Amino acid sequence: MNTVPAVDASRLPQLLRAMPKAELHMHIEGSLEPELIFALAQRNQIPLAYDSVEALRAAYAFTDLQSFLDIYYAGASVLLHEQDFYDMARAYLDRAVADNVVHTEIFFDPQTHTERGVAMETVINGLYRACRDAQIEQGISSSLILSFLRHLSEESALQTLDAALPLRDRFIGVGLDSSELGNPPEKFTRVFERCKQLGLRLVAHAGEEGPPAYIWGALDVLNVERIDHGVQSEQDALLMQRLVKEQIPLTVCPLSNLKLCVIKDLADHNLPRLLAAGLKVMINSDDPAYFGGYVNENYTQLFAATGMGAPEAYQLARNSLEASFASQAQKQEWIARLDEVFREYAAA
Ligand code: HPA
Ligand code: ZN
Repeated sequence: MNTVPAVDASRLPQLLRAMPKAELHMHIEGSLEPELIFALAQRNQIPLAYDSVEALRAAYAFTDLQSFLDIYYAGASVLLHEQDFYDMARAYLDRAVADNVVHTEIFFDPQTHTERGVAMETVINGLYRACRDAQIEQGISSSLILSFLRHLSEESALQTLDAALPLRDRFIGVGLDSSELGNPPEKFTRVFERCKQLGLRLVAHAGEEGPPAYIWGALDVLNVERIDHGVQSEQDALLMQRLVKEQIPLTVCPLSNLKLCVIKDLADHNLPRLLAAGLKVMINSDDPAYFGGYVNENYTQLFAATGMGAPEAYQLARNSLEASFASQAQKQEWIARLDEVFREYAAA
């Protein structure tokens, strides 16, 4: 679509919800709603530090990334059996379908579970079966990305990779998440090199709280194909030029940035500037159960706060589809559907 048709501003929120989109930055453990945490805790006889869903939700007042991670890892401790991982992923995929997500690339943190004695195959098989059933029953496409915890050692990441390799056909790539500051990409040089040799797709969180140097490191040392977050890239003009020139996708998460105090106000979010500068950015939910909304909520709240319009909506949705690891043919099909939705809204 060369020119995005004009769409009445009153219909923009509806268009944002209706447009087909991909979600490329969502941690499945971060989709665990308090109600499901309590249900699984009861099913698995695991004691919780909170006595009600309301008390747990009230604890979701974060000051930075680490304050969130502490509670996020505690929430994940209720996951024990393959069915628990399946139920968590089906609940997310239901929400994604409702938000017109046609394709999602889901992060999972195996070390959070294997360190508690849960087997790697329990984690991967539960998630994989959920993705497969959702494709068959609801038509949503999804893939899994194994994410290494950067607060742990590279040795632990290498062992995690070895444990996952018998299930190599069930995940498409690897990522890097958890506490960013003090854990630069260079710490994981060897494990990413090995993953590259294995033909896995490579992504990493960088420039969420950390400096532009971590984004350079993720690109030049880890050889990643996408940067998760990357909002700190604006501090470095040379890096901005590189990201534009190479069209390296940044998977931006506005409500996450707000809730983790990376920004003070959604109106201050730099996504509109990054987009206008020609960076391949799109909108994602990160940890929707903790940050106050799934992907459509991220779109509608950011648009309401910043005054972006239909042309930006089109570009963001298109970027999400293009930046995915799906086949070119599949992307073309989704983009044709996106164009169709925009034509319908313009005509109405
Ligand atoms: N950053 C780092 N690690 C994470 C995040 C995040 O936003 N969400 C879940 N793990
Ligand atoms: Zn993340």
